[in-house]
Amino acid sequence: MNLKNFFIGLSENKFLNAFAQKYGLKLGSQSVVAGTNVEEMIERVKQLNAQGISCTIDNLGEFVSEKDAAIQAKNEILEVIKAIHSHDVDAHISIKPTQLGQDIDENFCLENLREIVDQANQYHIFVNFDMEDYTHLHSSFSLIDKLSEEYNNIGTVIQSYFYQAQEYIEKYKDYRLRLVKGAYKEPEEIAYQNKKKIDQNLIYLIEYHLKHGKFTSIATHDDRIINHVKKFVDDYNIPKDKFEFQMLYGFRNDLQLQLAREGYNFCTYVPFGTDWYGYFMRRLAERPQNIQLVAKQVFNK
Ligand code: FDA
Repeated sequence: MNLKNFFIGLSENKFLNAFAQKYGLKLGSQSVVAGTNVEEMIERVKQLNAQGISCTIDNLGEFVSEKDAAIQAKNEILEVIKAIHSHDVDAHISIKPTQLGQDIDENFCLENLREIVDQANQYHIFVNFDMEDYTHLHSSFSLIDKLSEEYNNIGTVIQSYFYQAQEYIEKYKDYRLRLVKGAYKEPEEIAYQNKKKIDQNLIYLIEYHLKHGKFTSIATHDDRIINHVKKFVDDYNIPKDKFEFQMLYGFRNDLQLQLAREGYNFCTYVPFGTDWYGYFMRRLAERPQNIQLVAKQVFNK
């Protein structure tokens, strides 16, 4: 088993997740998670805003199997929306359908999502539907399709590791989209395993959506892709208000600031809350060097 699969395996381990939450074992997650409550998160968002950086806020949590937990997550997200509005910060939200009951009952999940999207809509706040693993993909598209009949403040994510990503982007081109490589372990029947193919497909998706789509969020820490996009938008005269770069909170902070200072729209993905375990393990899977974050926290007490 390689390191990537090892950490993805850990990210899906329910026992370790519960253990981490209960005993507050943080393993260095503090530097990539913006606090455990709304007040701490809003402070970080204000600091980022002051540097010219917009934020998308993720109230951490996923793969919920109890209705009560899904309702609690919904209520917490409604609090986040109220906080964005009352503090007048430059931010929107990112949500995961599995946190809101997708695995329990799709209609129950739809109702939770509707409440969130409706409240956000009242405050003119955009809601991004994060994309999770393939087993949830079509259900998530169907939830988005249903809510789109009533609301237009929603968008989603296309993952370039899927062979069918080019079809998905054609179907959803009129949405505000975040384009990523993909963070889950997917089988070779449905997804590229080869990094070069995943990167090439991401570049295809970015170019396609910049030319044909609505607002594009280019979510990567990869210099090669960022530099390619900078040249592409120059060559094709794509205005800066048609796209933004996105990165995760705590990663490549200097580059985040540099892009904002160069005049690009920049948005940081800001996760917060106590349910940080799965999120953090996926970050270790993507880049085992992130293990340095753990080492620093453990040894620099
Ligand atoms: P990748 O990890 O492939 O690295 C490529 C190169 O970039 C490296 O070789 C290195 O040169 C450089 N690099 C990367 N990280 C670096 C670092 N920390 N320091 C220095 N250099 C670094 N996934 C998903 O499935 N669903 C989703 O909804 C989302 N949402 C999302 C939002 C945002 C804002 C981001 C940034 C990412 C996601 N993702 C995601 C995760 C995404 O799919 C992907 O797994 C990670 O972003 C890792 O891929 P990268 O493109 O960042 O570079």
